[in-house]
Formats: sequence, C-alpha cells, structure tokens
Amino acid sequence: MLDFTIDEKNCTRCGQCVADCPARVISMAGDVPFIVPEKEGGCYRCQHCLAVCPTGAVSILGISPGKCLPLAGNLPAPHQMETLIKGRRSVRRYRDEDLEPELVQQLLEVAWHAPTGVNSRQVRFTVVDNRKSLARLRETVMDGLGRLVREGRLPEKLAFFADYVRVWEAKRLDILFRDAPHLVIASAPKSIVSPLPDCLIALSYFELFARANGVGTVWNGLAKWAIGDLVPEALPILGIPDEHLIGYAMSFGRPAVQYHRTVQHGPALIHRV
Ligand SMILES: Cc1cc2nc3c(=O)[nH]c(=O)nc-3n(C[C@H](O)[C@H](O)[C@H](O)COP(=O)(O)O)c2cc1C
Repeated sequence: MLDFTIDEKNCTRCGQCVADCPARVISMAGDVPFIVPEKEGGCYRCQHCLAVCPTGAVSILGISPGKCLPLAGNLPAPHQMETLIKGRRSVRRYRDEDLEPELVQQLLEVAWHAPTGVNSRQVRFTVVDNRKSLARLRETVMDGLGRLVREGRLPEKLAFFADYVRVWEAKRLDILFRDAPHLVIASAPKSIVSPLPDCLIALSYFELFARANGVGTVWNGLAKWAIGDLVPEALPILGIPDEHLIGYAMSFGRPAVQYHRTVQHGPALIHRV
C-alpha cells in the first residue's frame, strides 16, 4: 500500500510528479495525480514524486513532505565538496575511545540514502559498536590466522597475513583493524540486482559523511579478506546472513591524526570519446 496522497489545495497540477516517476506509475485522474491500484506494485518507492513537487503537495508511503530537508540554500558549495573529497584521507591512527552511539547511528542512517539498483535498499550495515566487541572480533580473527600460519594453510597469495599475525603476537601492533574502535561491514543479498555496487556506494557515502563529522575511516580490505575468506569462525560473531555477499569492510573512529591540506593526485586518467 503506497498511501499516495495529494493535497489538492496545494497541488498546482504542474505534472512534475507524473513526468519524473521512473516507473511511470503516476497518471492524471482528471487533473489530479493518481496511481491506479494495479500499478502500485511497479512503484520503486524512490519518492521522486514527493521530492520533485514544487509545493510539497505529494505524500507517499506515509511520509510528510514537511519533514523532509528543503534543498534550496542547504546544499554544500562546489568548493566545499571538492575540499571534502580531496581532503578525505585513510585514517590509520585512532583515539582510544568509542564514538557516541547517536553519531554512529546518524552516519549510518545518512549513508543509507545512497543509491541502490532499482532502489532495492537491501544493504545491511553490520557495525562493531565498541572497542570491547572489536577486541573480541580481533582475538578470534588473529587466533584463526595464527592457526592457519602454524598449520601452513594460508593461501599463497595471502601469505603476507603471516607478518600481521607476527607483529600482533609480538608487539600487539594491529595492522588488520588499525586499532580503530569500530568496524562496519556492508553486505547485501546475493540475489538482488547489484549487491556489490550497492555496498560500495553506501560505504563511499558513509566515508564522506563521516569525514564531514570529524570521524576518520579506512577501507579495510585486510579485514574483509580475513573475515570473509580466511577465518569463518569470525562470522557468527558478526551475524552476517549466509545468503549475503560481503561487500566491503571499513574501520572508523575518532582520528588521532590531523591532516592540514588536501593532496594532489592527477592528472586523472580520462579517455574522451
Ligand atoms: C578497496 C580498498 C581497500 C583498502 N584496504 C586497505 C586496508 O586493508 N588497510 C589499509 O590500511 N588501507 C586500505 N586501503 C586504503 C588505501 O591504501 C588508500 O586509499 C590509499 O593508500 C590512498 O590513501 P588515501 O585514502 O589517504 O587517499 C584500501 C583502499 C581501498 C579503496
């Protein structure tokens, strides 16, 4: 049930909601926008109708347009976005403190607005919420890796993990999780149209919004390999559903390092046709 309603007093009959609907399920009944019940199943639930209405006359899925953030005057300027993108760094030194749960929640809620194929919105964030839980995960992963090393069962192309185990066992130096207080793993059902892109895009948005909130992140391929491929005993701790593809892992927390300027990469590899 889409609960598509029009505030007829405010509706100017401009037809923008009809024109912008990607699933083409909205039509005009007389001069008022309408979704015929047989077409409801085709709706992507993308809320374009609500977002595009100039007067806030469209409501769908029980969402009041008055509670949405207005865009006019609220978007970051291009130079601010440029600074955010160029000023993002992989953070590998973290303060020994958990983030406030409300902040973690907000970062995830906002990242969940990232686009997904046919708006499937099936990306699941598995979050290691605090340092205690991360320590437990780390112990399990390092124990599992240590066993693989001692039994000579590390796959050849992942033999470098032996070094990480060695420095962990000798010096408690944590190359895998970078001593970050938190880890987020994005996963999605293998059956949906684009599980891997959906996860990667969600984490990319997470990373940038985290940076804007003074939170550091690092894409964590090592943790993804360790958890996804080498130490399956870690999976029950995380509770990632069997039918999910593990998209990627990202460590995050309050940085113990401050970067003062952007870097300069380039020129970009561009092929013009
Ligand atoms: C897919 C991917 C996986 C990565 N995995 C790791 C990792 O396991 N550990 C790590 O310290 N950095 C990891 N990084 C960070 C890269 O090394 C880093 O992005 C690169 O050196 C450029 O530095 P910058 O992110 O600060 O610009 C990863 C980055 C990407 C995009």
